[in-house]
Amino acid sequence: MILTGAGVSAESGLGTFRDKDGLWTKYDLSEVATPEGFATDPAKVHDFYNARRANALDAAPNAAHDALARLQAARPGEVLLVTQNVDDLHERAGSTRDVIHMHGALTGALCATCNHRWTAPRVMSPEDRCPKCTAPSTRPDIVWFGEFPYQMEEIYTALAQCGLFVAIGTSGQVYPAAGFVQEARAAGIETLEINLEASDGSGYFDRALHGPATEIVPHWVDTLI
Ligand code: OAD
Repeated sequence: MILTGAGVSAESGLGTFRDKDGLWTKYDLSEVATPEGFATDPAKVHDFYNARRANALDAAPNAAHDALARLQAARPGEVLLVTQNVDDLHERAGSTRDVIHMHGALTGALCATCNHRWTAPRVMSPEDRCPKCTAPSTRPDIVWFGEFPYQMEEIYTALAQCGLFVAIGTSGQVYPAAGFVQEARAAGIETLEINLEASDGSGYFDRALHGPATEIVPHWVDTLI
């Protein structure tokens, strides 16, 4: 099981959150990534995610996404990618199955009234109506702080059964994902961190490979296949 974070998409030109110049140094997380922020100023929240969606659509998968897709192709059904990323670069690199977007996806729209889901247009606005119930309460299908991440049962089941847990390009600061390494360790599962530098959770991993994802991940995948 491979957990990915913003560091995997950094070299595709998408900003991380907590690095120097990261998104949370420029935006107030409570204003743009919480249900309360959306209730207060939905236009500001849509503007934030419209910009993220535009960046993601203009970006291309990098060598790390490609290598992970190559690993999945070499070991069909054996490699589950759990991503905290809301971009679709894993899919565009060829990871078309066994990908869980635990924090949602920029490509999705969600009705806050009836929970209907559909493909997000490139630009969303507070006036947009739900195609099913027509309420003007559409939001990006993104998991905000204070909400439950998606498919957690499936993730914990896979984690308990996996032979190796790898975290790539994530700072280990946001739970529940940050706790996966401890769950894996408690179950006696081997753990590996791949990150630009030691993360907050580095001490929990059995092994670490530090450096840019586009260099480390392809090399690591080569050693596996
Ligand atoms: P962070 O921005 O917290 O951490 C990114 C990690 O990637 C850091 O540890 C960097 O050192 C590392 N990194 C940066 N560039 C890299 C590169 N080229 N190669 C390898 N590693 C690199 O991002 P996440 O851990 O993904 O949630 O953040 C987790 C969640 O916090 C996000 O999903 C988002 C955010 O708030 C929500 O919005 C709900």
